[in-house]
Amino acid sequence: MTKNPTSLYAARRARVAQQLGKNDIAIIPTAQERPRNRDSDFLFRHDSYFYYLTGFSEPHAALVISGDGSSTLFCAPKDLEREIWDGYRLGPDAAPAALGVQAAYSFDELDAQLPRLLENRSAVWYPFAIHEGLEARVGGWLNKVRSRVRYGAICPETQRDLCSILDEMRLVKDAHEQDIMRRAGQISARAHIRAMKLSAQMLREGKDVREYHLDAEMLHEFRMGGSQYPAYTSIVAAGANACVLHYRADMAPVRDGELVLIDAGCELDGYASDITRTFPANGKFTGPQRTLYEIVLASQEAAVAATKAGARFNDPHDASVKVLAQGMLDVGLLDKNKVGTLEDVIEKRAYFPFYMHRTGHWLGMDVHDCGSYVEPSQAGEVSERKDPLSGEIIKNRPSRILQPGMVLTIEPGIYVRPGEGVPQQFHNIGIRIEDDAIVTDAGCELVSRGVPVKADEIEALMRG
Ligand code: GLY
Ligand code: MN
Ligand code: MN
Repeated sequence: MTKNPTSLYAARRARVAQQLGKNDIAIIPTAQERPRNRDSDFLFRHDSYFYYLTGFSEPHAALVISGDGSSTLFCAPKDLEREIWDGYRLGPDAAPAALGVQAAYSFDELDAQLPRLLENRSAVWYPFAIHEGLEARVGGWLNKVRSRVRYGAICPETQRDLCSILDEMRLVKDAHEQDIMRRAGQISARAHIRAMKLSAQMLREGKDVREYHLDAEMLHEFRMGGSQYPAYTSIVAAGANACVLHYRADMAPVRDGELVLIDAGCELDGYASDITRTFPANGKFTGPQRTLYEIVLASQEAAVAATKAGARFNDPHDASVKVLAQGMLDVGLLDKNKVGTLEDVIEKRAYFPFYMHRTGHWLGMDVHDCGSYVEPSQAGEVSERKDPLSGEIIKNRPSRILQPGMVLTIEPGIYVRPGEGVPQQFHNIGIRIEDDAIVTDAGCELVSRGVPVKADEIEALMRG
């Protein structure tokens, strides 16, 4: 990870402390190392909340923030032998100067120190349901405090979910975060360009192109750009595989005449990017492919236009659905005689067989980032409606009002599985177009547009 100013993290910790009661305490562990198979661990990835508050990416660490504003770090102790095998450790002695915390201990002392830190506190906060076993561990520490009540110790009476504070903070990205996300978007965009070019070039050369060739090209550019790893499992889907929403990069052939859908983005210094492009493997859209592509692109443009401060999170979705549904009627994916007017299609969600996901999600440290999708000031305004497809009663709350600095994806699509009455020319076409938007006062800034999105521009790029 790049070195970041400690003051940034100290300021975030101070904001957390301000929201705790003066006599409260918060515990934020980092992620655990996970075994993959014998003697091999999965690549370690820090916990996002922990990193947000420390900028510290070593495993075996936990942060404690006290309501009075002081912070204590537990981290792996210096150990020459382990450092020879696993690499450098900051260690507790160097941690206060390096990270701006007031005290630091060895991670081995967590169970010994936590009961002491929890004593005489009113409430203990930690992220609920994130760290396996943490609830039980907190219970153990509280039990230790309770065993001392006869000596006058007071045991915290309340446990609270720290996510409620941290999710709101992480939802609005500061200038430092926006800068990283712009750079992540640029790296990912370059990777998509490389994959598009490689596909057309290999097919021109008569080579056997596989999904993994394009995946490899993406990974190469991610790492060349300084990204640590992909932000999520890359989807590289050739032909009909694009209709499998959670397909991954596999080994299917990339065939001349088919589309390729790539949904892949790098993680840079703890922040995700998330881009999808769909392109003709050989660099030239067929008529039916272009017809559907133009509908998805128009729906994305409508969603982008609806993304601005003051609008609701649901507005881009509603805008894209309108364009997609009209397009489906226009090209015969939906039969007017069966489904009725545009309003009927939207009301009955008749577009659902071809568009079954939402148009976006928050993006940040996590690809599906934290943050409430409900406007907090209106969380009590509940309305009920019956879902036309499932018959389920859905409780609706007003969706989140967008603010400058919120970051979301805009990713409409159309996925056509063969079926009765589905025009054959569209069978097995799957298209999604996804960009990353920082909300601004006037609209939004698309930080992933370093890769072309217009059909003509994609064709021009792929001509070589
Ligand atoms: N790549 C995950 C998503 O688009 O939501
Ligand atoms: Mn996405
Ligand atoms: Mn995606």
